[in-house]
Amino acid sequence: PRGARRDEQGRIVVAGATLPEVAEEHGTPVYVIDEGDFRSRAREFKESFPGWEIYYAGKALLTRTVARWAAEEGLNLDVTTMGEMRIALAGGMPAARLGFHGNNKSEEEIAFALEQGVGRIIVDSFDEIARLERACADGGHRANVLVRVTTGVEAHTHEYIATAHEDQKFGLSIMGGQALTALVRCHSSQYLDLRGIHSHIGSQIFETLGFEVAIRRTMKLASQFRTATGVELPELDLGGGFGIAYTGVDTPQPTSTLAAAFEEMVDHECRAFGLARPHLSIEPGRAICGPSGVAVYRVGTVKTVELEGGRSRVYISVDGGMSDNIRPALYAAEYSAALANRTSDAEPVLSRVVGKHCEGGDILIRDVFLPADVTIGDLIAVPGSGAYARSMASNYNQIPKPPVVSARDGVTSVMLRRETLDDLMRLDVGQ
Ligand code: LLP
Repeated sequence: PRGARRDEQGRIVVAGATLPEVAEEHGTPVYVIDEGDFRSRAREFKESFPGWEIYYAGKALLTRTVARWAAEEGLNLDVTTMGEMRIALAGGMPAARLGFHGNNKSEEEIAFALEQGVGRIIVDSFDEIARLERACADGGHRANVLVRVTTGVEAHTHEYIATAHEDQKFGLSIMGGQALTALVRCHSSQYLDLRGIHSHIGSQIFETLGFEVAIRRTMKLASQFRTATGVELPELDLGGGFGIAYTGVDTPQPTSTLAAAFEEMVDHECRAFGLARPHLSIEPGRAICGPSGVAVYRVGTVKTVELEGGRSRVYISVDGGMSDNIRPALYAAEYSAALANRTSDAEPVLSRVVGKHCEGGDILIRDVFLPADVTIGDLIAVPGSGAYARSMASNYNQIPKPPVVSARDGVTSVMLRRETLDDLMRLDVGQ
């Protein structure tokens, strides 16, 4: 997080909270979220994209407190499941500011969303359109909808998190014609208020080129829709995906630079197609909560493995791993690490930070230089752990999930408490 520093004893301090003290109070592993950092990134999106709606993507990190921060900062919220809707509402996010996503929303979820009065539903298939119409008919509701489309953009990111190419589960194809058919179908529905088009091209993206192509293709689609119906679509949502720096090689643009580029691309394509500027929205998740969070682990064992050529690698085992951050195993995601409880003059050596799971691929950081004297009891901080770490956590090997604590002015408070073995044991109801 911004403003993280070391105190005179060399301990890392986040939002005024000293990480060894946080570890003492809350145990390890623990995720620490700098509230001020989260809020300032939220505010930067609001200020850099004036007039745009910013939907914070709750899948990246959602707790009641986080939903409240987002609401207080004037953000809307992108939710994908009953669980996310429930947490968002419990945190005080008004239903009207929720955008409901998903490629397989259940009847129950749709009915709940309609009853609560969610602001908009992003439809993802013809089956869903029919399901939504039935729910509207049954409950006497109307729904604002956007149609999620695939633009055919190959976003330059990991295959598993690129979502605009044709051969994947999300959206309706522009090229294949289903997108236009779906738009016309929603437009002519007596239950649905068609608001516009939604495109999300992928995640952890640094280049604007993919967005530019997506904007051009969605605008073209909007103009085809106008030709077909005589109506201009009032809204366009360009999704999330703005990359953050996990290591020194990542180069995110400042939000204001990104915003200027988006404004220009949208204006350009509006002019090109003779369309009025639509009401615009984006859905950043990681870019808001990722850098605000740091995970803190305690070192349990250290072991040196001799490699070919006389080199060696130090394996540093920590008390968490792939159950609290699956991203390295799932996407080959890279992180950095820092010794959090002290500084060291020892020579930096090639190290690998690994978890405690019974699996060779349980690697948190494949290659990192850490001081040669890292030892049992030391604390390792992993920046960038605010996004998609706790939210994708599992109980693999029956490990209880770590807590998420917020930090502000040196005070930490628990947002999500640590799971206990009792929590896990209670789920196991067999004889
Ligand atoms: N909007 C939609 C429709 C999305 O599907 C996503 C992410 C977002 C917004 C937010 O994307 P962000 O700004 O956070 O990149 N779990 C993966 C990424 C997959 C996210 C799926 N959807 C990861 O850990 O990198």
